[in-house]
Amino acid sequence: MPEHHHDISYILNHLGEDHASYFNAVAPPIIQTSNFCFDTVAEMRTALQDEMGGYLYSRGLNPTVDILRKKLAALDGAEDALVFNNGAAAVFSGIMANVKSGDHILSVHHPYTWTSHLFDKILSRFGITVTYADGTDTEGFISQIKENTRLIYLESPNSWWLDIQDLEAIGKVARQKGIVTMIDNTFCSPLYQRPIDYGIDIVMQTATKYISGHSDTLGGVLTGSHAMMRKIFLSEYLCAGNGIQPFNAWLLLRGLRTLPSRLERITRTTQAVLAYLKSEPAVESILFPLDPSFPQYQLAQKQMKGACGLISFYIKAASAEKIEGFCNELKAFRMAVSWGGHESLVIPKCVSIPHNEFNPNDPNHRLIRLYLGLEDAEFLIADLSNAFKGI
Ligand SMILES: Cc1ncc(COP(=O)(O)O)c(C=O)c1O
Repeated sequence: MPEHHHDISYILNHLGEDHASYFNAVAPPIIQTSNFCFDTVAEMRTALQDEMGGYLYSRGLNPTVDILRKKLAALDGAEDALVFNNGAAAVFSGIMANVKSGDHILSVHHPYTWTSHLFDKILSRFGITVTYADGTDTEGFISQIKENTRLIYLESPNSWWLDIQDLEAIGKVARQKGIVTMIDNTFCSPLYQRPIDYGIDIVMQTATKYISGHSDTLGGVLTGSHAMMRKIFLSEYLCAGNGIQPFNAWLLLRGLRTLPSRLERITRTTQAVLAYLKSEPAVESILFPLDPSFPQYQLAQKQMKGACGLISFYIKAASAEKIEGFCNELKAFRMAVSWGGHESLVIPKCVSIPHNEFNPNDPNHRLIRLYLGLEDAEFLIADLSNAFKGI
């Protein structure tokens, strides 16, 4: 079999798997062990000298997790990958490994909730400052770089407004200045965007979403150079003990097999639902990076190979009650956080706005985010259409 490490079918179905070493089983084994033993003192000494060099203890390397690491690194076009217990753990470790007291971080505005908590509530206690800037204005964003900026944090597309950053332009300036760049690439998954190709250093995704695809496990991924992954592994990964467990890694391997088919289907569903929403009088406008109406459509086409699943729209509604009524009426769409699984979801921005502060003139109060799962498009559209009747 040809070994094309860039061929997605090869990566998902073959790379990293060594069937002969586990009874020719097609599915990889779950090596559910905490510990690994040695025959000689010399072997144990070697293992202790470099914990990234072999199996010693499952807080570090584990063979099931290693199969997953190889596949995830190859999907991103990266040298190496680390897999964490969830996305927040991956964010935490990637950032902590690259900053120290006195440093400055430049972040895109509105990163994921627990990413901004890390910036505002934890790092601030250690003398690390953060500037949030609008990533849709590349010049303005870059102009916020300071003498002590050590890390640039991106999230493209962002998961509510779906706005994007110019990865190539920002990556280039950061390289010139020796600043580490990190991106939350969860919206696209490696199949629809490969930030390393544009000069980004560390790519993060929560595997809880598309990699798992079944809403039955959490996981988080960092990919990047061998040197960067080694630095994170030998410090934050081993120290925080936030690596993924073998069984959860196995669930993610299982999810990876169907990743392309799931994204293809969700992409088709997304196009059908977008067309429907545009025809719906109660919809003011939609937000979706690969829709021609999107302000950054050209940039999205340049750096993203696809987009699907998450779409946001502004609903025409005079009160929070109307919006709540619409969401409560949906039956095919479940009301929940997260996304990336088989089940379609809805979440209105007004869920976190007290009723007496709701302002119908502020479009952001009327923003609704949908996640489209694996159901038939017609099934979802019928549900939306029924709920819109109450508006
Ligand atoms: C964009 C984004 N980044 C990071 C995370 C955190 O991932 P996890 O929930 O796996 O910790 C989430 C979770 O919702 C997310 O949506």
